[in-house]
Amino acid sequence: MPDDYLSFLERILTPGRLRHSLGVQQVIGELAEVYSLDRQLAQTAGLLHDAAKDLSPAQQEQIIQQAGIQITCPEEQDYNLYLHGPVGAAFVRQELGVDDPLILGAIHMHTFCGNGANFHSPLVWCLRFSDLLEPNRDWSEVRWMRENMPRLRALAYAGRMTEAAILHTSTLIEWFDTAGYPVHPNMRKARQDLSQALLTNRSPLDAR
Ligand SMILES: [Fe+2]
Ligand SMILES: [Fe+2]
Repeated sequence: MPDDYLSFLERILTPGRLRHSLGVQQVIGELAEVYSLDRQLAQTAGLLHDAAKDLSPAQQEQIIQQAGIQITCPEEQDYNLYLHGPVGAAFVRQELGVDDPLILGAIHMHTFCGNGANFHSPLVWCLRFSDLLEPNRDWSEVRWMRENMPRLRALAYAGRMTEAAILHTSTLIEWFDTAGYPVHPNMRKARQDLSQALLTNRSPLDAR
C-alpha cells in the first residue's frame, strides 16, 4: 500500500522532496491508466523513487557496501543525478521489505543506471516522465525544461511513449551538456536506440 510508506518517508525526506514524491505518485497513477499498468504498483514506485536521495554520505556509503552496488561509469558517481537510483532500490528493500522486482527495478533505473531487461519498460519510462512532469516542479529557471515540458506531457498522456522518451532524453542531455553536468552514457544510448527504432518502426517500447 503506497500510503503505508508515508510516515517512513516523512522521517527521511526533506519536506520539498516528500512533496515531489507525492507529485510523482499522482502523475504516475494517471499515466498507469494510459499505459495499462498496475496502478498501485506504479504509484508505489513513484512514491518511493527518491527514498534514498536525502541520506547522509555515510549512510549512502554503507548501503553501497552492504548491497554490493557497482559503479559502472564515472558519471554514475554523481549521487544526486544517478546513484540515488540503485541506492534507493537497495534502501527500500532493506528498510521497508519491498521485494517486488518491478518496483525495485523501476527505482534503480529511473536515473538511467543499470541495463536490466526492463530498462525500456513502460513502468520505468512512466516513472521517468512523472519525475519531470509532477506538478510541484518549477522549471521556470531551466530553459530546456520550461520549453519542452508541455510537449512531453502531451506525448506521454497520448500514449506516444517512444516519442516522449526521445524528447525526455534529448531535453535532459541538452540541459546537462549546457550546464556542464555529467551525462550518463545510458541516456545517450537510450536516445540513440529509440531514435533509430522510431525510424525503422521497431521501437523497444511500442512492441510491448
Ligand atoms: Fe530521482
Ligand atoms: Fe525524483
